[in-house]
Amino acid sequence: MGPKELAQLAEELKVDLTVAGPEAPLVAGVADEFLARGLSLAGPVQAAARLEGSKIFSKQFMRRHRIPTADFVVCEDLPAARTHLDRWGGPAVVKADGLAAGKGVVVASDRSQTEAALQSCFSGQLVGEAGRRVVLEQRLEGEEVSFHVLTDGKTVIPMAPTQDHKPVWDEDRGPNTGGMGAYCDDGILSENLYRRILDEIVFPTLEGLRSEGVVFRGVLYCGLMITADGPQVLEYNVRFGDPETQPLLFRLRGDLAEALKSLAGGSLREDMLSWEPGASVCVVAASGGYPGEYSTGKPITGLEEIEAGAGADGAKVFHAGTARRDNQLVTAGGRVLGITARGPDLKTATDKAYEAASKIHFEGIHFRRDIARKGLLRAHPL
Ligand code: AMP
Ligand code: GLY
Repeated sequence: MGPKELAQLAEELKVDLTVAGPEAPLVAGVADEFLARGLSLAGPVQAAARLEGSKIFSKQFMRRHRIPTADFVVCEDLPAARTHLDRWGGPAVVKADGLAAGKGVVVASDRSQTEAALQSCFSGQLVGEAGRRVVLEQRLEGEEVSFHVLTDGKTVIPMAPTQDHKPVWDEDRGPNTGGMGAYCDDGILSENLYRRILDEIVFPTLEGLRSEGVVFRGVLYCGLMITADGPQVLEYNVRFGDPETQPLLFRLRGDLAEALKSLAGGSLREDMLSWEPGASVCVVAASGGYPGEYSTGKPITGLEEIEAGAGADGAKVFHAGTARRDNQLVTAGGRVLGITARGPDLKTATDKAYEAASKIHFEGIHFRRDIARKGLLRAHPL
């Protein structure tokens, strides 16, 4: 459904508030359409959604507004790319310009891998048209943090810091995925770094948009690398991250619907949301073969036991890629379930999430065994 059809449906159903979950409708302009019809929608307009919709736009935006990010060039052919690679010398990252559901980025470990990634991008093989133009950027070293804020363009509510786990296997090995698990813990960031992220990245981003005539109303997700020189932006998303949102919302205090409604109407207040003390963890159970080829339709068992034990502090299983077939729950996607738990500390939350994960079965199931390990081993905040 396109923006017009979605708006029409919202009118027909007399919907009070629409929340745009995925990026594609936002990039297609769903917020603009709702706004024009006086409908309430939480999510940014198309001009702001370009921060996620085009890697080239977002990198050039950061350069214009001096927001810290890796050095980069835009390339459309291999010879031009080679000139820059010669100049840099070090490892590089290849990013398809357009939306690619997490598959458009290759973090290369050497020159031949970089060139192979460039070639498969330019040829349309990697992600089709989205990859005909690429951002080639320097590879940054450090730890990644996902930092979300909720904003109506004036008021900003920073959300608790989270950390995603993109590579498919333990110890961050293997190809990147949409995210194999995440945790939320205030101990990820020092107060100083938290402040720097707001002052050097979040506020300049919102101010930069404003100076270009764009008001951002929605969730701004800054995917950061915490380098020796401080926080740098790897990417922006214009929506809640997956799987970061599962642990994030597990610690949420307040009425999210009311906050999103106020955000859409431009009357967000800082005191609308706060965060439960403690920590939360989400472990993603994926289909055998994911992020490559995988098959679906595998029966899933073990959920009843977890759901029976679910209380205020129990584990909860979020469905990502499931379906019902003949009254049986089956797999229907690459990332199948997000097993989420909260606790007074990260260790308790992690143990609970893994205890629940161990009860779930389907043919080919795999999940990382080290979600939150970086947090558990960290002696001091970043
Ligand atoms: P992106 O979609 O731009 O966030 O890229 C996906 C993932 O690739 C990120 O979460 C990082 O793990 C990795 N990545 C992206 N850009 C860089 C970079 N410049 N240096 C190192 N890793 C990167
Ligand atoms: N977990 C990263 C994303 O949602 O894009």
